[in-house]
Amino acid sequence: MMSEASETVSEDLSAARDRIAAAYEPRLLEEAGHRLAGLLASHLARAERSENAVLPWTEPPEAVRQAAALLRDSPARGEGVPDGFARLVTGMLDRGLNLHDPRYLGHQVPASVPLAGLFDAVGSVTNQVMAIYEMGPWATAVELAMIQELGTTIGWAPGAFAGSVTHGGSLANLTGLLTARNVALHDGWDRGLSGGGATPVLLAHAEAHYSVARAAGILGLGSRQTLRVGLDSRGRMDPRRLDEELTRVRAQGRPVVAVVACACATPTGAFDPLDDIAEVCRRHEVWLHVDAAHGGAALLSDRHRHLLSGLEKADSVVWDAHKMLFVPGLCAFVLYREKEHGFDAFRQDAPYLFDPAAPGLAEYDSGVRTLECTKRAAAFGLWGVWSLFGRQLFADMVDVTFALGRAFYDKLEEADDFAALHEPQCNILVFRYVPAELREAPAERLGDFQLELRRRLIESGEFYIVPSKYEGVGALRVTIINPLTTPTHLDQLMDALRRHGRESLNG
Ligand SMILES: Cc1ncc(COP(=O)(O)O)c(C=O)c1O
Repeated sequence: MMSEASETVSEDLSAARDRIAAAYEPRLLEEAGHRLAGLLASHLARAERSENAVLPWTEPPEAVRQAAALLRDSPARGEGVPDGFARLVTGMLDRGLNLHDPRYLGHQVPASVPLAGLFDAVGSVTNQVMAIYEMGPWATAVELAMIQELGTTIGWAPGAFAGSVTHGGSLANLTGLLTARNVALHDGWDRGLSGGGATPVLLAHAEAHYSVARAAGILGLGSRQTLRVGLDSRGRMDPRRLDEELTRVRAQGRPVVAVVACACATPTGAFDPLDDIAEVCRRHEVWLHVDAAHGGAALLSDRHRHLLSGLEKADSVVWDAHKMLFVPGLCAFVLYREKEHGFDAFRQDAPYLFDPAAPGLAEYDSGVRTLECTKRAAAFGLWGVWSLFGRQLFADMVDVTFALGRAFYDKLEEADDFAALHEPQCNILVFRYVPAELREAPAERLGDFQLELRRRLIESGEFYIVPSKYEGVGALRVTIINPLTTPTHLDQLMDALRRHGRESLNG
């Protein structure tokens, strides 16, 4: 016979079970899913036609207040679940940055191929995560297949190389440089770096992404031990200066963990001369890490592949799919030319995860190759779109966006009130609006004006571009990373900058 107390508990739990069953009801998913498909499709259609603001600007505290209010007392809770769901989704869509608006020309984050998000949703709804193969068998298979596809695209022989998928380019740089550190400093993983010998260094492109110096800090090398290698007039690492710097550092007896080259560098999209850099690294017997987070995709284009000539000689390569492969974040690859280095980053025992009864399976376990233990299935979107449309779609998106970078440069060069600050090597371009009134202005005034102008522009919702600095002075920067942008949008951007610029000057 049940005691009074356990009866109460059992009644309480039956109510809990009913609520849980209602939340897990597959028909609810079906109904909400239909609503979601309709809402997303009409939102994207409006964004692609530029019907709303690119950025619906809200002051951050107000946005946080709105989100918190919905947690406490959401009107959605008083409605049927599908209606409540639709209301919340509509609110999310209304408040986000509209990357699919062709007037979005901002960060190195793309207007992603819409169906990629649906493939990712399959992984999210069924919660396919990884650490060991059996937790996410298909997620693992998909990642390894993509690693094979990208590695052979670099030019490496099938089966000879290795790689892993991480949550973003910063973590991919950290992982690749950790591998380089373990290879260069042999027992650093076990003994730490307090060996008392000469301080190890990293040599990097002078404008390498900040994640490189951050990695040096995290890896115990010290962010100040990242020596910046000078650039040529086009913003590319100068192999001659690299050679000199390596000779100098070697003469001091300092171990070199790696040389970090960029393909391309974040500020202006400059591609380093990889063939020459690889030759210098070969002579000095130094690990070459190439951050191709943005530019790796150029390998897929017949027109632009030459920019990456020599990439196949790198020891490690970072390639973000959530940049120029146009899939949603986060999906980044770190690839190693030599297969054995695929396991050199992390040397961890976790007997409860990695099954000694099936040692042959360990190479399929992502957990031995990545910082994350449980890791989101990050490559479903890329694998799905690649399988559906083939590699041509990626080549097309590179060709179209790189061509727009060039077209924008030509337009700026033709206008007497704009200054392009470099020739573009891809779809990144830094420039300034220089109205007649500011032609003779001090550099600082001209730079501050660009930043004020951008603020006005993005808060108007008309376009989205980002601030930058060029030679220490404020500037404007575009990354043309929505393949639906056209040259007409670029003309409209210039007109909008003129209009907001005049308003700013008139106070
Ligand atoms: C060259 C380069 N490397 C690394 C990163 C960092 O990538 P993520 O933002 O995915 O961490 C960026 C970001 O813009 C980048 O441009």
